[in-house]
Amino acid sequence: MTEELKKLQTDFAAALENITTQEALKELESEYLGKKGKLKAILSGVKDLSIEDKKTVGVAANQLKNECIAAIAQKTQELEDSYFSEIEDKEAIDVTIGYPSENLGHKHPISHASELLEDIFISLGFKIEDGPQIEDETHNFDMLNIPDNHPARDVWDTFWISDEINKERKPGDKYLLRTHTSPVQIRTMLREELPIKIIVPGRVFRYEQEDARHTCNFYQLEGLVVGEGVTFGDLKWTLDTVMKQLLGEKTQLRFRPSIFPFTEPSAEVDVSCQICNGSGETKGKKCSMCSGTGWVELLGAGMVHPKVLEGCGIDPMKYSGFAFGMGIDRIAAQRFGVSSSKMFYQNKLKLNEQF
Ligand code: FA5
Repeated sequence: MTEELKKLQTDFAAALENITTQEALKELESEYLGKKGKLKAILSGVKDLSIEDKKTVGVAANQLKNECIAAIAQKTQELEDSYFSEIEDKEAIDVTIGYPSENLGHKHPISHASELLEDIFISLGFKIEDGPQIEDETHNFDMLNIPDNHPARDVWDTFWISDEINKERKPGDKYLLRTHTSPVQIRTMLREELPIKIIVPGRVFRYEQEDARHTCNFYQLEGLVVGEGVTFGDLKWTLDTVMKQLLGEKTQLRFRPSIFPFTEPSAEVDVSCQICNGSGETKGKKCSMCSGTGWVELLGAGMVHPKVLEGCGIDPMKYSGFAFGMGIDRIAAQRFGVSSSKMFYQNKLKLNEQF
């Protein structure tokens, strides 16, 4: 190797040693290997040398060029590694470090009650279904045997979506905030194969005078079982089992004859009030949860009306079914001993934090 090449080699090694950034490395690369670089100048002069010198200088210069390329690649890697390990050190997060838990919040009592119910129903073989909160009139009313002008529409008066907002919808369709979870019965019967065994927990809305038991926004849990040989006895057993598991073995259930256009026969089901233990009095005053009766209406239920089954393409001569719709808010109030389910919507932390 010529003196000149040897000097280039030591100068390059010394310069490389001191380099700490990618930018400086790029500059060094172009100083030695670039188009106008020091090695390039020697390499382009090789063609003018004698054959003898060409062999020695040419080979040595090429060898040095390859050494420089390899050294630069190695340095690039080293710089990259140290850059990333610096970031790792600087931005290290210890995921195991504890976090002050006081303000984390917790489940709302209604969610809690809903999950308790879901667990009980799942253990009895029910599947969970869901449906839209903005519902059409057909599913919310018509297919549930509540045609236009039926008096039952007054009981389930609700908030209608104005045609102004409704522009996107199909012409002729009327939309509303669903008044109950029952439309999901229809959606499921139209879609699923028999037998059906579902629950539908969800939010519902009504135009309502608010009091201890009534709010405009509340939660229901619908149940539907359809198949061959389903009886009212199955309905009674199911509700009795669920309520006893949820509220305790001493809980009494009362079935009162009632009317729902989509079930026949129909019943309202009450439980013995857990706030006053069925006495109708708390602290010498009339219990506000049960209005002093000792009973709280929790749900409506019945055998699915043949017209509803037929409307969903199910033969009522061959199949039967039961359905129920319970108010989760009232169940939460009973389960947690809260005298008014309206309180669940008043953002009272003192109340919520007890559960
Ligand atoms: C219905 O909504 C029927 N869809 C239930 C049903 C389903 C009957 C399937 C038969 C077969 P109702 O309007 O009674 O029925 O409401 C059912 C339950 O929801 C009531 O028993 C009560 O627990 C609760 N509930 C009703 N209105 C309110 C309200 N404004 N605030 C809180 N809970 C309410």
